[in-house]
Amino acid sequence: MISRKFPSTRLRRLRQSDSIIKLTSECGISKDDLIQPVFVKEGLKDKEPIESMPGIFRFGCESVLDEIEEIDQLGIKAIAIFPVIDPAKKDATGSEAIKTDNFISEVICSIKSKFPNMLVIADVALDPYTDHGHDGILENNKILNDQTLEVLAEQSIVLAEAGADIIAPSDMMDGRIGFIRKRLDENSFEEKIILSYAAKYNSKFYGPFRDAVNSKNNLGKSDKSSYQMNPANFLEALNEVAMDIEEGADIVMVKPGMPYLDIISRIKHEFKVPTFAYQVSGEYSMLMESVNKGWLDKNVIMETIISFKRAGADAVLSYFAKDLIKEFNL
Ligand code: PBG
Repeated sequence: MISRKFPSTRLRRLRQSDSIIKLTSECGISKDDLIQPVFVKEGLKDKEPIESMPGIFRFGCESVLDEIEEIDQLGIKAIAIFPVIDPAKKDATGSEAIKTDNFISEVICSIKSKFPNMLVIADVALDPYTDHGHDGILENNKILNDQTLEVLAEQSIVLAEAGADIIAPSDMMDGRIGFIRKRLDENSFEEKIILSYAAKYNSKFYGPFRDAVNSKNNLGKSDKSSYQMNPANFLEALNEVAMDIEEGADIVMVKPGMPYLDIISRIKHEFKVPTFAYQVSGEYSMLMESVNKGWLDKNVIMETIISFKRAGADAVLSYFAKDLIKEFNL
């Protein structure tokens, strides 16, 4: 251990000016590290605001193209797209999710034909499509793991055929990564990337997202604790990640972000694989509203994003992505 003793060592020497602070910065963030989540709503003409996510909109299948154009021009390399489905199409098994010409497929197809270089990350889970709002098939109040795998694999093929570059299972069923990898490979999609929501916690920070995709009322008083992780657990997160890597995940993700920085750090150091963080809807809303009200300085946003990099995240999904690039000249 090198000895560091005052007065020969003065750590404040490197904090004398903005220039020396920047030169000795241990990590940084650039637009290459940011992914913008985008909501698209079936049957919507223009765009509509999401009340619990100030500044975030749902887009229709045409207006989303202008939004992607802006995202593209800002230099963002990837979007994560989430559909809001016509309520009349929701059912107990989420059957709309596996129809080849469903809404999300059309949207992905039109985005990829206009912006072929924009990486499209497509969520795999049944919650936008089920009338009970759960990510899997529900029978007698139980989520059926193995029956759900079959549907998730089909959903992945639909998304891959539509042109999604990255398949992102967010459902937390056991064994889904291996099941989906196998099905993709059998259908000549061996180049499709799997981004696994590997350590996804059962979190109340998803509240505004469930408003955004209109699944909150479907879910009602029910919760996702039988498949999403207990917030108290960290060793289990390592097991989840180990299994997903073994089954074929290319990138793993931790979600939510800020309350789980320790998990990002452990995963990155233990497995040394590409690791993403998802700064989720509730994290966005609490920060944005505080900034809007003047209770917090807008630099808090940058502070949160840098915390993900410091913890070891390679990229961050954040509803702030566009704003960060504009406001902080990234
Ligand atoms: C669906 C899904 C959720 C989020 C991403 N995919 C919600 C949930 O699991 O209930 C949350 C994202 C956010 O809060 O921003 N499986």
